[in-house]
Amino acid sequence: MGVRVREVGRTYRKGRRKNEEVVALDGLSLDVPSNEVHGLLGPNGAGKTTLCKILSTVLLPTSGTAEVFGLDVVARADDVRRQIGIVFGGERGLYWKLTARQTLRYWAALYKIPDARAKGRVDELLERLGLAEKADDLVETYSRGMKQRLHLARGLIGDPRLILLDEPTTGMDPVAAHDFRGLIGELRAEGRTILITTHDMDEAESVCDRVTLIDKGRVLATETPRGLAEMSGLQQWVEAETSVDVDGLPGVVGTERRDGVLRVRVVDAAAARVVIDFLLDRGVRSVRAVPPRLEDVYLDLVGRRGMGV
Ligand SMILES: Nc1ncnc2c1ncn2[C@@H]1O[C@H](COP(=O)(O)OP(=O)(O)O)[C@@H](O)[C@H]1O
Ligand SMILES: [Mg+2]
Repeated sequence: MGVRVREVGRTYRKGRRKNEEVVALDGLSLDVPSNEVHGLLGPNGAGKTTLCKILSTVLLPTSGTAEVFGLDVVARADDVRRQIGIVFGGERGLYWKLTARQTLRYWAALYKIPDARAKGRVDELLERLGLAEKADDLVETYSRGMKQRLHLARGLIGDPRLILLDEPTTGMDPVAAHDFRGLIGELRAEGRTILITTHDMDEAESVCDRVTLIDKGRVLATETPRGLAEMSGLQQWVEAETSVDVDGLPGVVGTERRDGVLRVRVVDAAAARVVIDFLLDRGVRSVRAVPPRLEDVYLDLVGRRGMGV
């Protein structure tokens, strides 16, 4: 097992006299098998960063246990640290007066990577993250996306078996975000385990083997993105290139047209069948059923909770 979390609780104290208690994690359990790309999804304040911090040994759980490759994150913190790479999103934690190459050499030294090997490893990461050309420019001259890629390179310097990514693509431009998805695929192909928190449901849907929805420090569901869509019982879509009208058919909730494509929202699979047959009968080809997107499922599950239902 890559990550095994059992009933982990974490509270923070806040307020002027530290007398106010905030429950960040409320008995959370989670299994991430080795070599899985696992998404951690949930609204702001759900407890995602707190969990990442506990797994990366920088924060202690208040209760419960967590293991990384069978190593307890509290009792074996040093051993755990050798297995993991952490990338917290944003621009913090970089020295602006260093270059990318210097930054990575510095981190290689912290990870006690011998000089001879560090040079090759740094060159490889600079190349891989698209930083080679600007490798000797100061970090302060980098775009936000470049700083994020440098964060990623830094997280990979120790050749980690588990990579913890906390909102790694927030603020990345679409091209960088696309390249990032490719990189996740490569890291997975190398046998690494990846836990990634993100707000981008399309990203989660495309890179994650499974996702865990968390809210208020608890797990709502752990599933494949597709499984979650099916489990949600949410409406699905039928798409077709046609000008035929389907309004009024049973089970049709709504329709929209864009670029010659008709999108029909239906209540369930049976309703999708009716619409598909109707269109096929009228000679329409290129008809397809589309399951709800992870984004719809997320809004449904988290949104519903948010309203106290
Ligand atoms: N250092 C802290 N002191 C007090 N409360 C905190 C601290 N860090 C996080 N929290 C609170 O814990 C909860 C979970 O936060 P966090 O783990 O950052 O959630 P997420 O990453 O999902 O947005 C929130 O209510 C947040 O306000
Ligand atoms: Mg967070």
